[in-house]
Amino acid sequence: MTIAPSQSTGSEAWSDTRLLYALEEVVETEINRHLTAAKEWMPHEYVPWSQGRDFDGVMGGEAWAPEQSKVTEIGRISLVVNLLTEDNLPSYHHEIATLFGRDGAWGTWVHRWTAEEGRHAIVMRDYLLTTRAVDPVELERLRMRHMSEGFESDNAHSMLHSVAYVAFQELATRISHRNTGRESGDPVCERMLARIATDENLHMVFYRNLLAAALQMAPDQAMPAIRDVVVGFRMPGHGMPGFERSAARIAIGGIYNLRIHHDDVLQPVLRHLKVLETSGLGPEGLKAQEELGFFMGELDSQARKFEERRDALLARRAARA
Ligand SMILES: [Fe+2]
Ligand SMILES: [Fe+2]
Repeated sequence: MTIAPSQSTGSEAWSDTRLLYALEEVVETEINRHLTAAKEWMPHEYVPWSQGRDFDGVMGGEAWAPEQSKVTEIGRISLVVNLLTEDNLPSYHHEIATLFGRDGAWGTWVHRWTAEEGRHAIVMRDYLLTTRAVDPVELERLRMRHMSEGFESDNAHSMLHSVAYVAFQELATRISHRNTGRESGDPVCERMLARIATDENLHMVFYRNLLAAALQMAPDQAMPAIRDVVVGFRMPGHGMPGFERSAARIAIGGIYNLRIHHDDVLQPVLRHLKVLETSGLGPEGLKAQEELGFFMGELDSQARKFEERRDALLARRAARA
């Protein structure tokens, strides 16, 4: 297959179907690279089963109580958000299978990605229940509510928007898992989340390389898609019960906030793809690139303001203590 030259005039727009076909060869290359890089791992090995015991109810064991949890409060909040996010996998699968299809290289990726993501909820739930880190009844009720709502992609209208979104989202998820582990206060939890974060990083690389190819093929369509996704970015778990409140605690707790989003998620992908330095764009691409540059500057100053307010809050708390 030959990749068509860059469309710098914007006169010939790529349809989603044409792009899907044109990118199929890249998907195949990326799957092969991914399969070579991805190491098999066993979720059961990351769970301290010896700490487990029966719960109340059917087994007549001991009911959960907050003092049984060995993870920090911020760790508990973030673990629940991260697990509920992973739990909605059936909806994510539906969204990407609808968009990317279930045939050929795209289909192979959709199914492989889904299988890998399935491990994340398995290992996290096993860890949380075995160590009694969170209230199992509340966790199950939240899962039911969250999954009953489902997940609808903000980007289902466009294949390019979807690829751009997942490139940033997989990195956001990686950073969120990694920082949750660091703040959890339990080395076993940190090791488990670091293993998941390694998977998320490979997912990010897959989509980032795909986005790089799309930028080459259709720069004047890819650039506006990247702008739209960066400007309107929302975490996949945004619809879960109590998300805003949890997100505020997670931000103050240093797990995920505007500074981290700007420095550790958006900037690395934009820099790697040289998005703001790409030349030879047509009017639409150039406009999007300028707006993206402006937005990143604004986000940086918002992040600075957030840090100032957070530092002041933490100083007041320290003074009270
Ligand atoms: Fe995941
Ligand atoms: Fe992932």
